[in-house]
Amino acid sequence: MHDQLVTARLCAAADPLVVDLGYGASPWTTLELAARLRTVRPDVRVVGLEIDPDRVVPGRDGVSFARGGFELAGLRPVLVRAFNVLRQYPEAAVPEAWSTILSGLTPDGLLVDGTCDELGRRCAWILLDRAGPRSLTMAWDPFTVEQPSDIAERLPKALIHHNIPGEPIHTLLTAADRAWAHAAPLAPFGPRVRWRAAAESLRREGFPLRSYRRRMRDCVLSVPWATVAPR
Ligand SMILES: C[S@@+](CC[C@H](N)C(=O)[O-])C[C@H]1O[C@@H](n2cnc3c(N)ncnc32)[C@H](O)[C@@H]1O
Repeated sequence: MHDQLVTARLCAAADPLVVDLGYGASPWTTLELAARLRTVRPDVRVVGLEIDPDRVVPGRDGVSFARGGFELAGLRPVLVRAFNVLRQYPEAAVPEAWSTILSGLTPDGLLVDGTCDELGRRCAWILLDRAGPRSLTMAWDPFTVEQPSDIAERLPKALIHHNIPGEPIHTLLTAADRAWAHAAPLAPFGPRVRWRAAAESLRREGFPLRSYRRRMRDCVLSVPWATVAPR
């Protein structure tokens, strides 16, 4: 909802179909996704897909559920959210999974491949379109995360094994921690103020952090994919 590209593509879609892929043991994330996206586009249609047939539940609250995997059960959505799904696969399986999902989208469709902790306090996702990955976004609860690199343990599968010296994601997280440390004098004003200062200093160092018009509850660090793409 905070991503202009996502909301623009959703609003422009002839058929505003969205898939929550691999919603898990209960469909809460799918129902919440539908509620949030309806504020952007009231006629959005949301379908939850699960590879595990025992997890497919009856439709409710205007949301339907079906069995399906990376081929998206033949649907043609404009947006797919797959959270904590690819983390269960080996890294080598990611390119093919991305390619299968992306080929099922509408031509201007988007995929959000993300990972988070159990309570959603540490979160990271890659936004992709048919041309491939576009950006990495990390978002965390300002009050429970001590430093930006704490997100490393929840990086998407395509990046988590690359957080080592010499790799761009490691360079970014190391710089973010350094900027966070330098912003320590602002800690009395709260972690959001401190993060805004840290993000500004990262920009001054040359990291192309996305700016958001709205102030957000979470601390957010979003960069173009080229900034973090594994070597
Ligand atoms: C850890 S749960 C994630 C649940 C929910 N998305 C969340 O983030 O809380 C992962 C789910 O992905 C499902 N899954 C694994 N591979 C899948 C695939 N290829 N297509 C659809 N679902 C898949 C599993 O059955 C499991 O229910």
